[in-house]
Amino acid sequence: MLADKDRIFTNVYGFQPWNLAAAQKRGDWDNTKALMAIGQDAIIDKVKASGLRGRGGAGFPTGMKWSFMPKEPKPDRPNFLVINADESEPGSCKDREIIRHDPHKLIEGALIAGFAMRARAAYIYIRGEYIREAETLFAAVAEAYDKGLLGKNACGSGYDFDVFVHRGAGAYICGEETAMLESLEGKKGQPRLKPPFPAGAGLYGCPTTVNNVESIAVVPTILRRGPEWFASFGREKNEGTKLFQISGHVNKPCVVEEAMSISFRELIEVHCGGIRGGWDNLLAVIPGGSSVPLVPAAEIMDAPMDFDGLKALGSGLGTAAVIVMDKSTDIVRAISRLSYFYKHESCGQCTPCREGTGWMWRVMERMRTGDADVSEIDTLYQVTKQIEGHTICALGDAAAWPIQGLIKHFRPEMERRIIEKQGGGLSPMMEAAE
Ligand SMILES: Cc1cc2nc3c(=O)[nH]c(=O)nc-3n(C[C@H](O)[C@H](O)[C@H](O)COP(=O)(O)O)c2cc1C
Ligand code: SF4
Repeated sequence: MLADKDRIFTNVYGFQPWNLAAAQKRGDWDNTKALMAIGQDAIIDKVKASGLRGRGGAGFPTGMKWSFMPKEPKPDRPNFLVINADESEPGSCKDREIIRHDPHKLIEGALIAGFAMRARAAYIYIRGEYIREAETLFAAVAEAYDKGLLGKNACGSGYDFDVFVHRGAGAYICGEETAMLESLEGKKGQPRLKPPFPAGAGLYGCPTTVNNVESIAVVPTILRRGPEWFASFGREKNEGTKLFQISGHVNKPCVVEEAMSISFRELIEVHCGGIRGGWDNLLAVIPGGSSVPLVPAAEIMDAPMDFDGLKALGSGLGTAAVIVMDKSTDIVRAISRLSYFYKHESCGQCTPCREGTGWMWRVMERMRTGDADVSEIDTLYQVTKQIEGHTICALGDAAAWPIQGLIKHFRPEMERRIIEKQGGGLSPMMEAAE
């Protein structure tokens, strides 16, 4: 279990105030000028050495991403940092805790990261539904300006840096980085084709890096305590501490900071009071937010909760939003509900996603009620494969993967309800097993 002294987010439960005075008592904004004085490339090197990988889902190495930004921005094409606080992935609820209880970690991180990337300003894009969180963030940014921590000569560093907070209107797709840039520019939030990547042409056509809230908020502590300290947690290539968000059928759902690579069993036993009804009652887990395939109970129980450990199980760490389902779950219904979500959130730009998400949801609904044909399970799987990798953004993949996971692990259950609806008999898979 991660020791309290090694926690980055010491106010994640809001036991203390979020404001600047309280944040400074917790160590935030402590001689930030000195952290910046080591120089821009040295900061990027330290972030690289810490092993930090993006906390927004894909796990791209953060320091490497920063190094793609131009080192000498042209005066008419400034660099920008965009911070992704859209957090609309079902199950995800960590950035919200950072923003409402520890916003100064994010704002100090924005300054340091922005400085390292030679950015002129940071835009924090926060999802529309986070109304109170946005209020806190606006107030925290105002406090930082008042005390000279942001703006001209930020923290007395000689560097000018602005932070703007921008509220979204509540669309999941605006969490995709290029859709976010479109939305920030005042357009409809629809993903752009890549390349060019944002580091080449991003916000207003200028070099831009998009990072998740947690990726940015951990940076000041990494610099203060040293990259080796951060890298001492978790397995190789999966280093650091991480905010896990556990929801569903556990005795005590929570958001908790833990060392990466902690086993699923330990995470649930220590922080969540175990599985509802005991470990034998566990059915399956969606370990990284709704976009990743589910993992059946037996496979996940002792798995390491990190990027590589969950990839090896055919799933992913995603945002570490761990959705736990016990045996009372109608698993076909649960995945069908996720299909409805992706259908609803598709921006409609590309045909496989626009048509495919609706098609998959309609078939999934028939799978749920048993009003399908067993042969349609294969057709459904093939359609998911035709969507996966064939769309402008990863929403297409995100819609396909949960269904693929269901078919891979719960095909007998899908067959059972079809056969029962048709009047009984054994399903083809059951027959083969007899
Ligand atoms: C449909 C879709 C929704 C996304 N939503 C979010 C989100 O809410 N928050 C987030 O940080 N990243 C989200 N991402 C990932 C971002 O595109 C991007 O990879 C991430 O913000 C990069 O930050 P990181 O490198 O710090 O992880 C989403 C991606 C897709 C395809
Ligand atoms: S995959 Fe879906 S959400 Fe992404 S750009 Fe295409 S239609 Fe829009």
